[in-house]
Order: sequence, then C-alpha cells, then structure tokens
Amino acid sequence: MTPRTGPGLSTLSIHGRPRRQADWTPAVMPIYQSATFRNPVGSDEEVIYTRYGNNPNQVDLARKYALLEGAEQAIFVASGMAATALAHLAVLRPGDHLVSSRWIYGGTRLLFDSEFARLGIEVTYVDPDMKRAWRKAVNANTRAIFVEALTNPTLRVIDVPAIAKVTQDQGIALIVDSTFASPVNFRPLEHGADIVITSATKFLNGHSDIIAGAVAGTASVIDEVTRLMRVWGPSIDPHAAWLTERGMKTLALRVERANSNALTVAKWASQRAEFAAVHHPGLATHPDHALATKLFDGYGGLVGLVLKGGAAAAQRFASRLRVITHAPSLAGVESLISEPRLTSHKAASPEERAALGIPDGFLRLSCGCEDSADIIADLMLGLEAVRAR
Ligand SMILES: Cc1ncc(COP(=O)(O)O)c(C=O)c1O
Repeated sequence: MTPRTGPGLSTLSIHGRPRRQADWTPAVMPIYQSATFRNPVGSDEEVIYTRYGNNPNQVDLARKYALLEGAEQAIFVASGMAATALAHLAVLRPGDHLVSSRWIYGGTRLLFDSEFARLGIEVTYVDPDMKRAWRKAVNANTRAIFVEALTNPTLRVIDVPAIAKVTQDQGIALIVDSTFASPVNFRPLEHGADIVITSATKFLNGHSDIIAGAVAGTASVIDEVTRLMRVWGPSIDPHAAWLTERGMKTLALRVERANSNALTVAKWASQRAEFAAVHHPGLATHPDHALATKLFDGYGGLVGLVLKGGAAAAQRFASRLRVITHAPSLAGVESLISEPRLTSHKAASPEERAALGIPDGFLRLSCGCEDSADIIADLMLGLEAVRAR
C-alpha cells in the first residue's frame, strides 16, 4: 500500500483537489437543474444530458468521491442498489459466477437471488468466518468476489486484504460495498479491492434527505458502469447530487462524531444486563476488534443491540425513544434505530436470521451527531419501558 499524499480527507471532501478559481465565480457550486444543455450547432462532441452523468453537479461530485476513495474515477447513480447492480453487471455476463459473502444487506441478497439468477449469473455464498472458503468457492467461471467491508447489521469486519490475495491470484475482481465504513474509516482500494460501492444515501450525504449511490474504481470499470447507467437510466438527479456534495463537506466531522458516539454507547450498553449482546468493532470483546484496529481509521457509527425479551421488548423499547428516530437507513446526523427483522433482513426466515446472528430483539442503532449523553438518556428511557411491562 502506498501512503496517501496530498490533501487530507477533510480538505478533499470540502474542496476536491484545491485549485485556483476564477474571480467572481460562486464560492459554492450552483445547482444545474437542467435536463439538457445548449449544443454548438453542427458539433459532433458528446452532448451534455443529465441521464448521461455529465451534468456539472454529477461530474463535480464524482470527482470528489474518487479522490476520497483514492480511485482513478467514480460515478454517482440514483441509489445504492443501482450502484450495486451496475458495478456487478460491469464485470459479470450470463454464465459467469460470483462468490459473495453471506453477511450482506438483504436488498443485495434479493438482487443476487432474484435478478442475477434470471440473468444466468450464478452466486455462491461463503461464510466469511471460514477463511479458506473463498479460494475453494472460486471456479473457472468466477469473475468476482463481493463483500461488505463492515457488515449489515452484525458489524463484522471482513479481511479485505486476505480476500484480495485470492482475487489477485485468480485474476478476478474484488467488489467491496463500503457503505457502513465510509471512506473516512476505510478505503478498500488501498487494501487490494478493485471496485468500491457505497450507498451515498448514508454517510456521504449524511442528512437522510436523498437516495443516491456511487461506484469507484479504474477508468475502464467506471466507463462501463457509465455506459450501463446511460442505457438502463438510473442517473442521479442534479438536486440530489448537489445535496450530496453539500453533505460531503462535513463528511469527516460527522463520521468522527458518529464514531465517538457509537463507541461511547457501545461501552455503556455492554455494562447493561438488559442486553444479551452488544455488537461494535470498537469493543475489545468484538471478534474482529484486532482486524478493525489494523484496517480502519475509526470503528463506525453503528451499534447492534440485542435486547433480552425478543421482538416484544424491542418494540416497547423503540416506542419510548424521543431523540432517536425509529426508521430504517443509517448514517444521518440524526440517530436512527430499526429492527432488521422488519427492514433490511425481512426477506430472510427467522431461522436464517438467527443463523446470521440477527435474533428477534436485535436493534440496529445508527448514532448521529447529537450529544452522546442525550443518546444514552434516550436509550435508558427505552430500557425503562421494557422494565415497566
Ligand atoms: C450496505 C448497504 N448497501 C447498499 C444499500 C442500498 O442503498 P440504497 O438504499 O441507497 O439503494 C443499503 C441500504 O440500506 C445498505 O445498507
């Protein structure tokens, strides 16, 4: 890994690569809320058209994100799911085989099982705890391995450099969804990944007010993702691109605050008898604590809380919260809490969820930027509601 040189992540997320700007131009990028742009008559140059991803808001945002991930190029699309679908379709064809981590977002699992099966792309799931399973699962048709760097919702940390050894030996692509980590905490391309996906709905935007996704990688991969986006159509709207860029200016500040709030909450919760388990990679008791410390610059803003008393206790708990919003999604300035059994992992059976480490009573808490004392006071109200039964 070559050490990062040049401006730091906070500077890049505010300015992109700092450069001299012309006098009398706006200090903040305006919104080009325009589907199309005037063409010189007779020009055979590429037209500017917002579905093509070449609207100035889209271009500026993608440049900035590529810098944050240390990628040659990046592209934004209309959702994290669109990013996941197009990144895979850029490297997989009918008849190809994908090896995927078993510990992934339910929506991604649905994409692989329903849509990829329909396209003739076979997927084999690997339990990331079985270290040798990655190499064993690869066959002559395998074109890629897919993992989530920090898993949803159990917050396990995947050994990306170890899997990169397999993909590099086999000459196949390593695709990493790094949504939960964000480039502030982890940059997969520095550890041997080829393609990074993020749901920009989450940390990049950080204000729970848009849906967006991004893919970063080499110019040739991003050119192919762009080609697919132009044909299938899920480009990002200029207003959403502008809001994402505005959100990204505080990315480092927000992630650092979420990291510290989550660690404080996790340490507090791990002392409470009401929780059967507390998942956070910053806890010394977490199975991947050493790996997270080696690979990550921060442990992330999420905490998995498993309440004793199952689903009924979780519902009483969530109903009492006032600071923390009961809603799916994550990584906004506001803390959010949800039950994966009813949201991200609804499609799995209770037995499948239990096998994945998501028993009923599992609450996924995304710590926002509030004061940690207020988050904890709210969680204590939730515990009171459970006891009051
Ligand atoms: C890890 C992960 N990847 C991808 C997605 C999909 O993102 P979006 O909702 O922006 O389509 C999600 C959504 O929660 C997610 O948690």
